Amino acid sequence: MAAESCQALEEAGTNAFRLASGSEGWVERLGGDVLISYKSEAALEELLSGLTRQGEKIGWMPGRIFTRFLPLKNAERIPAVLHSGDASLPLTWVVTEAGVCYEIDMAAGYSHGLFLDQRLNRAKLRALQPRRVLNTFAYTCSFSVVAALAGAETLSVDLSRKSLDRGRRNLRRNALDESGHRFLAEDALELLPRLDAVNERFDAIILDPPTFSRGANGRRWQVEDHFEDLLNAALEVAMPSCAILLSTNCKALDPGALERRARACAKGKRRAATYLQLGLPVDFPPGHGSSTLWMMLR
Ligand SMILES: C[S@@+](CC[C@H](N)C(=O)[O-])C[C@H]1O[C@@H](n2cnc3c(N)ncnc32)[C@H](O)[C@@H]1O
Repeated sequence: MAAESCQALEEAGTNAFRLASGSEGWVERLGGDVLISYKSEAALEELLSGLTRQGEKIGWMPGRIFTRFLPLKNAERIPAVLHSGDASLPLTWVVTEAGVCYEIDMAAGYSHGLFLDQRLNRAKLRALQPRRVLNTFAYTCSFSVVAALAGAETLSVDLSRKSLDRGRRNLRRNALDESGHRFLAEDALELLPRLDAVNERFDAIILDPPTFSRGANGRRWQVEDHFEDLLNAALEVAMPSCAILLSTNCKALDPGALERRARACAKGKRRAATYLQLGLPVDFPPGHGSSTLWMMLR
């Protein structure tokens, strides 16, 4: 990434961003350290030498370099390993985005805790200043944190209790206590109709499901097949002027496809909406990062 873009991000209180992206891997700056994700040994070597060249240009070198192999199959995913730097330093540390603190944990599994491609969507949610936010597939609850900082009550839902515990820590890292913030370790698809049944309503909803998963009851979830079920269930708990973020990593669903599917759901539910494609942050070239779309009900 260009030196001026790195500097602009740092000046905005952000020290977690992509430094480089290629077809065979990418480099993320995570505070004082970096993570290189790579598909082959040749790609790793190239990304390492690119990092050295870029570091000389921008006058910044990482304290530690972690590396993570990107396997073809999700089942073969393993956590990152330390490639160079001080092995006695903790594997958990804090990065900032627009001045907001998020915990990185290199030992927690394949993902470190913060999806950097969602930076613009976190900023958008915060700017919307919603009152009641439903964050489904919440992971480490970064969307709940920005909503809470804007004064919202939040409900964060994820199958993984450990991820929600990390979300609780992210709230605390930002001097927020848990009052007004609920965390439910449940299947989001099963929970949505129950929220409707007890008349819970939200004025912002985050829908960022995985491409594939198995629900709590072993039910198979595939975003391409079940996207409409999820959005239709979310529309039942949406306030009249709710903002819904639709997001997916599934390559078959680009923002245009998301919008076509969302429009069909809105029509079926007789809800009027406008649609907003924010695109990707400056450090993500086309082809990298999630497809996302804001559906603004009105
Ligand atoms: C793509 S991540 C979400 C990232 C998150 N929105 C963020 O920006 O940090 C997907 C998350 O969905 C969770 N998950 C998978 N299937 C689920 C389900 N049926 N119900 C609730 N959570 C689920 C996983 O545990 C994982 O944390």
